[in-house]
Amino acid sequence: MDLYSVFGNPIKHSRSPWIHARFAQQTGQQLIYTAEEIAFDDFDSRVKSFFASGGKGLNVTVPFKENAWALAHARSADAQLAGAVNTLYLGSEGQLFGDNTDGTGMLRDIVSNHGGNLAGKQLLIVGAGGAVRGVLPKLLAEKPASISIVNRTVSRAQTLVDLFCSRGKLLALEFGQLHGIRFDLIINGTSAGLAGELPPLPGSIVHSDTWCYDMIYGPGDTLFQRWAKDNGALKALNGVGMLVEQAAESFYLWRQVRPETASVIEALRAELEGSK
Ligand code: ATR
Repeated sequence: MDLYSVFGNPIKHSRSPWIHARFAQQTGQQLIYTAEEIAFDDFDSRVKSFFASGGKGLNVTVPFKENAWALAHARSADAQLAGAVNTLYLGSEGQLFGDNTDGTGMLRDIVSNHGGNLAGKQLLIVGAGGAVRGVLPKLLAEKPASISIVNRTVSRAQTLVDLFCSRGKLLALEFGQLHGIRFDLIINGTSAGLAGELPPLPGSIVHSDTWCYDMIYGPGDTLFQRWAKDNGALKALNGVGMLVEQAAESFYLWRQVRPETASVIEALRAELEGSK
């Protein structure tokens, strides 16, 4: 059977094997998908030995997406821009291809699953780390009116603005500068929620049509989703849909078969609730 894996550290909470097993079952594809914890210094050698021993494709997660980018011989345009790779596979000449399906995953969830539209909208992205960098190319391609990036360390937001400013209107902000501005879509790309924290966002940035999207997920509402609802957002979504959609895009790159995602998202939500 064809072998696929996700490489990360830590990895034991990864839902990717669960998701890909459902995709394989649903599409009748014969494959095995495992999760591997990789020592911090071993990433390059583990990737090489995985493919040398016949492995078909890898997903790469925290903290190795930049390493995967560097290791790839060729990259998709999105991955090239994002500086991060979450999907690896071999081309016909044996060259290692890197792609990044995170941005596609987020957009599929917002646009296809929830009927959202980013064109002409005022976006706020909270956070300026690797997760945000990975999705920025796809968000910019939707032609929002502007994307403001607010980050605790404003210099990191400014770095992203400098990197992507030729592709749209981008601004770097400090949290204190948010008072008096309202946004149509607010994306939380920080890892604050994983530590039980919430970025210091004033409730005044939400209006009655604002959508809020948390890139992390949990059983039940994340802290950011709760904040969004408490401040009257029209929609408060978390990253479960994005997780399944980015997996579906990787599955498609590897197998040229597109799995159906709605039932998998629903099943994953139930599974997360059950594991509370
Ligand atoms: P990832 O790959 O998950 O993006 P990262 O590159 O370490 O990880 O980025 C984490 C992001 O969450 C950063 O934007 C970080 O802000 P700083 O750049 O100022 O460190 C943000 N973050 C983490 N904890 C936070 C908190 N408690 N409040 C606000 N922002 C937080």
